[in-house]
Formats: sequence, C-alpha cells, structure tokens
Amino acid sequence: MSTARSVVVLAAGMGTRMKSAHPKMLHPMLGRTLLGHVLFAADALAADDTLVVVGQAADQVTAHLDQIAPDARTVLQAEQRGTGHAVRTAMDAAPELSGTVVVLYGDTPLLRGETLEGLMSAHEASGAAATVLTAEVPDPTGLGRILRDHSGRVVGVVEQRDATPEQLAIKEINSGIYVFDAGLLRQMLSKLSTDNDQGEEYLTDVLGFLVEAGHPVHSFAADDALDTLGCNDRAQLAELRQIMQGRINTALMRSGVTMDDPATTWIDATVTVEPDVTIRPGVQLLGTTSVSTGAEVGPDSTLKDTVVGARAKVVRAHTDSATIGTAAQIGPFAYLRPGAAIGDTAKVGTYVEVKNSTLAEGSKVPHLSYVGDASIGAGANIGAGTIVANYDGVAKHHTEVGEAVFVGSNSVLVAPVTINDGSYVAAGSAINGEVPSNSLGVARGRQRNIEGWVERRRPGTKTAEAAERARQSE
Ligand code: UD1
Ligand code: CA
Repeated sequence: MSTARSVVVLAAGMGTRMKSAHPKMLHPMLGRTLLGHVLFAADALAADDTLVVVGQAADQVTAHLDQIAPDARTVLQAEQRGTGHAVRTAMDAAPELSGTVVVLYGDTPLLRGETLEGLMSAHEASGAAATVLTAEVPDPTGLGRILRDHSGRVVGVVEQRDATPEQLAIKEINSGIYVFDAGLLRQMLSKLSTDNDQGEEYLTDVLGFLVEAGHPVHSFAADDALDTLGCNDRAQLAELRQIMQGRINTALMRSGVTMDDPATTWIDATVTVEPDVTIRPGVQLLGTTSVSTGAEVGPDSTLKDTVVGARAKVVRAHTDSATIGTAAQIGPFAYLRPGAAIGDTAKVGTYVEVKNSTLAEGSKVPHLSYVGDASIGAGANIGAGTIVANYDGVAKHHTEVGEAVFVGSNSVLVAPVTINDGSYVAAGSAINGEVPSNSLGVARGRQRNIEGWVERRRPGTKTAEAAERARQSE
C-alpha cells in the first residue's frame, strides 16, 4: 500500500458574495492571503504533492501560487460544477496519485496544522476509507450535516437545501475537509451525479457511496470549531481576522510579550516577537517584522518588514523595510523608509524621515530632518531642520557624514557631498563642497545690522516702542 500523501485545495470559486474584483482566496488576512493560510496549515502534513484547483480568475490565483507555493501544481476546473467535480478534475489530472488524499478549501484561514495532523493521525490509526473533519456549531445554517446510524457510525452528509426538518436540527457539521484513500476516492468519484437541488456534483456523496459499498467512514471532531470556518463576505472576513488576531496575540502574550491593549494590536502571523517585548496600544507589526527582547513599540506605530533590536524604543512611527539597532530610539513621529538602517543606540526623533541611509552607532537626528541616500558616522549629531538634498531632479546622489560630525541646525547638505570625520557645519549652511576633517564649514550670508532701522522705518509700532524703552534704559 502506498504511503504517499497528497493535498488537494479547492480554490476555483470566485466568492461572489465578497463583491470583489479579486478572487476570495487572495484577500489578505494578517500576513497571508486566505489561501496562503490554508497552504501554511497544510505544510504540517508534509505532503508529497499539493494540487490547487483553480477556475475563476485562475491567472491571478496561479500567479499568487507561483510566489507563495512554487511547488504546488494548479489544475484548471474551467466550470465550477461542484466540489465533487473539482476533486474529480484534480484526480484526473494526476492519475499517478496514490496513498491518502487530503481535501481542503482555500477559504478557511483559521485552519491550523495541528488540526490537520490530528485528522491525519485519526485516519491512519483507524484505517478508514475516509475521515471527515467535523465540528459542533451553535448555528449550522447553510452547512452540510453529518448523518449517523443508530450505532453512531457516519453514513453520509446532507446539504442544508436537500435536508429534511429533522436533519436540519443536527448541529454536527461537515467542515468540507477530509482524508480519503486515493484509490477508493477515485472509484467513488466516477459514480457522482448531479441529482440534487443545486445540480452539482457533491463531494459529500462520496462518503455515502463508500458506506454503501461497505467501506468505513470515520469522523474527527476539530478541537476548535473555528478552524473550519469559511469566509463568504467582507463581514465574515473581518470576523475571521479578529479571531485570528486573538489567537496570535494570546499565543504571544503566553510566550512572554506584554500587550497593553490586545484589541488594537494587529500582528501578522508571519511576525516574530521575543519575550519581554512591550507593545503599547494601536500597533501593527506586518510582514517579516521581528522585535527583539526588551524593545518597546508604540503607541500608534506601524512596522512593516522591519527588524527591531533589543531594548529599542519605537514611538508613533511608520517604518517599512528598515532595521533598528539595539537600544536605538525612534520617534515620536518618525518615518523610516526602505533601506533605513539605524545603528545601536542611535536616535531618530520627531518629524524625521530616513530613506536608504545608514546611521552609525550613537548618531542622532533628533528633529525635523530628511536623510536620504546618506551614511551618517558614529556619534554624529544632525541638527534640527537639516535636509539632505539627495535628488537633483534627475538622479539621486550619496552624502557621507563622518564620525562625530556636528551639523548645525537648518543646514542643507547638497549631494553628492562629503563631510569628513571630526568636522562641524555652521547652522544655516548650504553645503555643496567637501568639508575637511577638523574644519568648520560655513556656507551662508554674513550677518550685518542696520542700526536705528526700527525707529526710522517702523515708527509707532510696538517693536519701535520696545526699542525706545531699551534705548532709554541703556
Ligand atoms: C460544502 C459542502 C458542505 C460543507 C461546506 C463547508 C459539498 C456538496 N458541500 O458546501 O457539506 O458543510 O462545504 O463549507 O461539498 N469549489 C470549487 N469548485 C467547484 C465548487 C466549489 O473549487 O466547482 C470550491 C469553492 O471555491 C469553495 C469550496 O470549494 O472554496 C466549497 O465550495 P462551496 O460551493 O462553497 O461549498 P458549500 O456549498 O459551502
Ligand atoms: Ca462555502
């Protein structure tokens, strides 16, 4: 007997009730698409083959699969003629499949690997021809009900619209997730008809056929009925997202992360947060973001694909593809764009934007600055209002600021330009030439004072009155 395992994911439907130009399976939820979550859960099965049945918007779904699951094979189901027809199409496209086949839907993002492992173990232990994942739900409306005989054995599934009033009272539902013996599945798929209220080939009929032919069908109840929830419209999308948020946050808190307000903390399933991190209210951690121990993030910050070092502090910041060093300080009100690499103990303060730039250890850009395409040396201090003019209207140029350089407030550093180690730039300078080490670069108009100007040119103003008082008290 073959011990091969295959996974077949049904993803041919558009999900009309989503009212979207995009197929339902591709809607995002906390770091992955709905389909991405299902495939991630399926990883736990370590299947030899993964087949995804595509149909509506097949190009979009296939392009997404190329990115997230390049080993998965797509099978086109040109017309959606039912779940049974979908699985039959997959099995026909892969005549070599043997062993066990797990059928999943692409729109059940809360499905977890451990649930699939439990289902698979139960199936393998019992030697049943098929094992169906079931759940007891308070409101089974719309779902297929599990039918059992007097001794409690599964005899089939009846769809809501084909059910009698007694059958409708059953609270045990068919999740639509099953493990089948591949050979028997193939055999029974060939017997499917469209003799039902929807005129579709029902995969559920396979269970009935198996039982009729004397092959045992077992059930496995999901530990958490939420695992089986499908998504049909945007309201359910939001509900499922909130459930996933709760699962992610609870797991992180149990692992040692402090969250002031889990309800306003949105952490993608793909993010890593170490113990003893503190997350303040209103934080989103997205994509490949990782936060090291002792760091504090928030309130009100969005970090995407960002590495946060140990003991760093990030307050009211928006970051994308940035790295933040150990004990660095970011914000309040800072914007780190792709390629911003903030060194250990460095500081990016209020109303500061950093793009594609390195700030070496202990350097500071505390207030009102733009730093683009620059390297800032260790211990340098970039004064308030400094702007790196990296773009000449045609190309971007690099700026080099050396170690322990002090740039006075309201300076413009016109790239390409180098300010060497251990030098100063006078406040208000527009620097477009190299500043040598051990020098002060000054590039601004010299000050001159026109004496008596106020009383001559602004007589009768309160400024002139103050000037007169100052003259009298001399
Ligand atoms: C199905 C089950 C039902 C179960 C429910 C759980 C059948 C006949 N019924 O009902 O017992 O309680 O799931 O959600 O199987 N799909 C295709 N191609 C098709 C038809 C469907 O790929 O031709 C995909 C859809 O994109 C969807 C999934 O299969 O992801 C389920 O299809 P759907 O029509 O929603 O099945 P239900 O009627 O909900
Ligand atoms: Ca459905």
